[in-house]
Amino acid sequence: MISEKVPDVAKNWTPDSWKQHEAKHLPAYDDAAALAATEASLGNFPPLVFAGEARALKDSLAEVAAGRQFLLQGGDCAESFAEFHPNNIRDTFRVLLQMAVVLTFASKLPVVKVGRMAGQFAKPRSSPTETVGDVTLPSYLGDNVNGIDFTAEARRNDPQRMIRAYSQAAATLNLLRAFAGGGYANLRQVHQWTLDFMGRSPWADRFKDVADRIGEALDFMEACGLAPETVPQLKTTNFYTSHEALLLPYEQALTRQDSLTGQWYDTSAHFLWIGDRTRFSGSAHVEFLRGVGNPIGMKCGPSLEPDALLALLDTLNPAREPGRITLISRFGHDKVEAGLPRLVRAVKREGHPVVWSCDPMHGNVIKADSGYKTRPFDRILSEVKGFFAVHRAEGTHAGGIHVEMTGQDVTECTGGAVAITDEGLADRYHTHCDPRLNAAQSLELAFLLAEMLNLEMTERHRHAA
Ligand code: PEP
Ligand code: CO
Repeated sequence: MISEKVPDVAKNWTPDSWKQHEAKHLPAYDDAAALAATEASLGNFPPLVFAGEARALKDSLAEVAAGRQFLLQGGDCAESFAEFHPNNIRDTFRVLLQMAVVLTFASKLPVVKVGRMAGQFAKPRSSPTETVGDVTLPSYLGDNVNGIDFTAEARRNDPQRMIRAYSQAAATLNLLRAFAGGGYANLRQVHQWTLDFMGRSPWADRFKDVADRIGEALDFMEACGLAPETVPQLKTTNFYTSHEALLLPYEQALTRQDSLTGQWYDTSAHFLWIGDRTRFSGSAHVEFLRGVGNPIGMKCGPSLEPDALLALLDTLNPAREPGRITLISRFGHDKVEAGLPRLVRAVKREGHPVVWSCDPMHGNVIKADSGYKTRPFDRILSEVKGFFAVHRAEGTHAGGIHVEMTGQDVTECTGGAVAITDEGLADRYHTHCDPRLNAAQSLELAFLLAEMLNLEMTERHRHAA
């Protein structure tokens, strides 16, 4: 139990106190009046989520931190105005549900589902400019900031884009809520989709055993009278939204004081995270998220030292509230086993109750010979394996995964059962930023992950016995 009561409002914090801190990766707007008008409009718009929902997610994440649940977080690297379509939302949601069923079955733990959806627009870029031939223009920073077309007009930062991003997020969230509560998440149906996928997968043999056992479990439950028609839990689910809280003017405008607790919440999503490039001490992004009551994430890459991590945890979670912090490691397949243990040990030694989640995407980007940015499926899987191995060795819970994926049949990451080749990348390379796992690769990853989770649970039971 935590003895200290969590303060309702963080010390010396206001929704705009981040402005006194060093802000990296924030766009400069040339029209201050237009920016102010946009912020004022957003400030009057309804919140997208309710504080009570963010608290419910925090409670679930506290269960993950304690080793009793598993976190699945996934979605686009960057949502875009161009890809805004109900089928895209539906298909990504469906694949996340399919993955969650496989993971629940394997781990025998509830799976907390969080989409990188309904607000994941702003991107930090490695270079502020992009050069093509002899033309240099500002980099694309995400659809809520500027446009992806390589023209001076598109690349101009336009505050009005925040309004469009808000409305797209609202409509996306509305559909997600309808799917989650309206019957689309029916367990029997979700499993049928997985069987359909298996019918087409070259790796079907490998996954058949798990899929058959899930089917049998459902048959057994039904025979006992537990069917979606009679047990509402079998046809509804909790689904949460998240994005990187990068574009602070937008996040601040949607930050509201909860009338029940007096606490401030960033109501643009249930869960917000700080990127690897903005998680330094003294950063405006750390300052902003320090004061909101949402559960928050922080990306942890190879340059993060244990002492710096501990200092950030003290700033972001002084009360050591379980569920408040999710640490998302993203080392790269060849660095995770050397780099992650020092962080895990430091956090464990200091008693910070965090969720450890693995982002196997951002440390594994390579440039294919064809010129496309890609991520080989084998390296993604290998980082997840390394992450599980580290936690097994340290006696900590491998709490979740964070993936960039889509329900569409894109060709952005190489490998997988229907092996996408370097040459094949050009076929359907649609991402607005980093390469995503396609629907089949995402499910394949879930099945392979199921094997690792199974092992963790078997070992746990052996130790308990
Ligand atoms: C991202 O999640 O899209 C991202 C930019 O990650 P990171 O901050 O870990 O580089
Ligand atoms: Co990305």
